Amino acid sequence: MRILVLNGPNLNLLGRREPNVYGEMSLKGLAAELMLRAPEDVELTFKQSNHEGDLIDALHDAFDYEGVILNAGAYTHTSIAIRDAISAIAAPVVEVHISNVHAREAFRHESKLAAVCIGVITGFGLTSYTLALHALIEHWRNRHD
Ligand code: DQA
Repeated sequence: MRILVLNGPNLNLLGRREPNVYGEMSLKGLAAELMLRAPEDVELTFKQSNHEGDLIDALHDAFDYEGVILNAGAYTHTSIAIRDAISAIAAPVVEVHISNVHAREAFRHESKLAAVCIGVITGFGLTSYTLALHALIEHWRNRHD
């Protein structure tokens, strides 16, 4: 199974950015933790960009992947172009957030992406990514068993 872990704007600053909200682990640390937790037959690819078009290109590159774990950061709440890219590709996408977006400002309560994702995981810190990984593995198994 090939799974893309795609992080959007400002997530390169994980560990240094508002640690009271996003925790103290870096994006590299997150990748290492996730790799430790992935079964052997899962190949994880990690990408991060602060630019909307680059995130869209990364989604296109994962067209045929078995899954995408996407934290689109603030683009979650604004980007119809990323939503269209998710709709365009065959890979199932899970929307993840580190913080509980529903417990924060009203503008974070709306996701332009959620309706075209297979599900949303929000508020579990970096565990949101691990949960998304397991969700994608189960999703794949349910379709192939
Ligand atoms: C975030 C939540 C978004 O509202 C915010 O813009 C982010 C991070 C999260 O992981 O909690 O950049 O996606």
